[in-house]
Amino acid sequence: MNYTIETQPIETLKSDVLCVGIYTNQHLTASANALNDATHGLIRSLIERGDILGKLNDTLLLNVVPNSHIERILLVGLGDQQALSVKNYRKALASAITVLKKANIKSAAISLAECDVEKADLTWKIRQIVEVFSDKLYQFTQCKSKVDDTIPLNDIVITTSDNQCNDAKTGLAQGIAIAEGMTLAKHLADLPANICTPSYLAKQALTLALSYDSLEATILDTAEMEKLGMGALLAVARGSRQPPKLITLEYHGDDKNSKPIVLIGKGLTFDAGGISLKPGAGMDEMKYDMCGGAAVLGTLQAAAQLKLPINVIGLVPASENMPDGDANKPSDILTSMSGKTIEILNTDAEGRLILCDTLTYAERFQPDVVIDLATLTGACLVALGRVPSGLLGNDDVLCHDLIAASETACDSVWRLPLWEEYQEQLKSNFADLVNIGGKDAGTITAACFLANFAENFRWAHLDIAGTAWRTGSAKGATGRPVALLTQYLINRAHART
Ligand code: BES
Ligand code: MN
Ligand code: ZN
Repeated sequence: MNYTIETQPIETLKSDVLCVGIYTNQHLTASANALNDATHGLIRSLIERGDILGKLNDTLLLNVVPNSHIERILLVGLGDQQALSVKNYRKALASAITVLKKANIKSAAISLAECDVEKADLTWKIRQIVEVFSDKLYQFTQCKSKVDDTIPLNDIVITTSDNQCNDAKTGLAQGIAIAEGMTLAKHLADLPANICTPSYLAKQALTLALSYDSLEATILDTAEMEKLGMGALLAVARGSRQPPKLITLEYHGDDKNSKPIVLIGKGLTFDAGGISLKPGAGMDEMKYDMCGGAAVLGTLQAAAQLKLPINVIGLVPASENMPDGDANKPSDILTSMSGKTIEILNTDAEGRLILCDTLTYAERFQPDVVIDLATLTGACLVALGRVPSGLLGNDDVLCHDLIAASETACDSVWRLPLWEEYQEQLKSNFADLVNIGGKDAGTITAACFLANFAENFRWAHLDIAGTAWRTGSAKGATGRPVALLTQYLINRAHART
């Protein structure tokens, strides 16, 4: 998709559809008014006739515009004439693109960045147009032998007044970078587990590094991880015929002495549960257990595209978790890279095992902060559903910064406590720690487990089990939390300059 900014008035543009907003009670946005004049009062007469009321989510597509060079008009309802809430602005954008997607058109011009949105500037409004449109236009077609619902739309023009053009361009660049990062994350996640293996993910990181001078990828294999003593990560991989990989993707946008932000993404390309086998129903969705890793790659791509003046390091431990004669078993005791020993009580609590060694490995980068993201616990779905990601961490400033970024990015998080009382649930009679904390507070005890390996830096954990993909008829990856993380990086870059 090609997104551009245009400073000419919308009624002069040659796009296949001109898309403008209208409010209830016959109030028109400036562009709708101009279009009304250009069409000899057509828009007002339709509203007066009651063909469209202007309520939020109302749309009316005019396929013919008499006595005019204008091909088509899409009216989009914005509700009462007042600043839209952020959520309603995104809803209006979603209803617009839903119509444009179905109409058999190649190009569209959209003026919705002109309407007032609470606490939002032009940069943000333009960014949201690109993000919402790109989200709705995403299709996973790689594995279909025949694609019958291709979308012809390939050109979107966003209109804005001339004096705001620089802000508009910033918004456009951010929107495109975030949207493309999310698309990459969704695509990798939607790939089936027989294609998207640990080796495949590693190859994608190498390919990404080839496309950007500022990105550099390194892959550690089993032998190298053995040398480092990554006993927890390797134990998870033992049950699989697919060799594990530890992917490092470094982005250098600042000088070498500037401490990096480290992002760690769980890259479990299929989680069958191991010897503690998961039930069959819905097990296909465990191909999504690498969404954290995919989001790390998408975020690094966005950082590189935006040339942010910071250093970021992405780490993705990639493995399968399968049952096998050589798989790790409940009662096994592992020695992690940190030296701490772990008693396995359930092999399905594997995410924390591959993450704990990666957290220890992160120390060598002398990180400013470490943020991990993982589809870690089903308990997170029970606690928070599919709306916010769970946030836990050992540093209030970092958690606060992530909450602020999540609000700007419309990629919500909710903080849960990481109190020392919960560590009681992780005590083992035979080792330093057990790998499950019992039935209570599963999201918190999983994070508490990780906290034992994050003692030497400021750290936050995002549990994205409920937010990384949708289930049911709209099954598919969401690309979250790429928008949140990219916003956090943008804010950090901004604070620095
Ligand atoms: N990948 C799963 C978590 C998960 C489950 C994400 C369902 C999304 C939907 C993780 O590896 C897992 O299996 N966790 C167990 C932990 C338990 C054994 C303590 C869980 O949540 O059931
Ligand atoms: Mn599991
Ligand atoms: Zn898992």
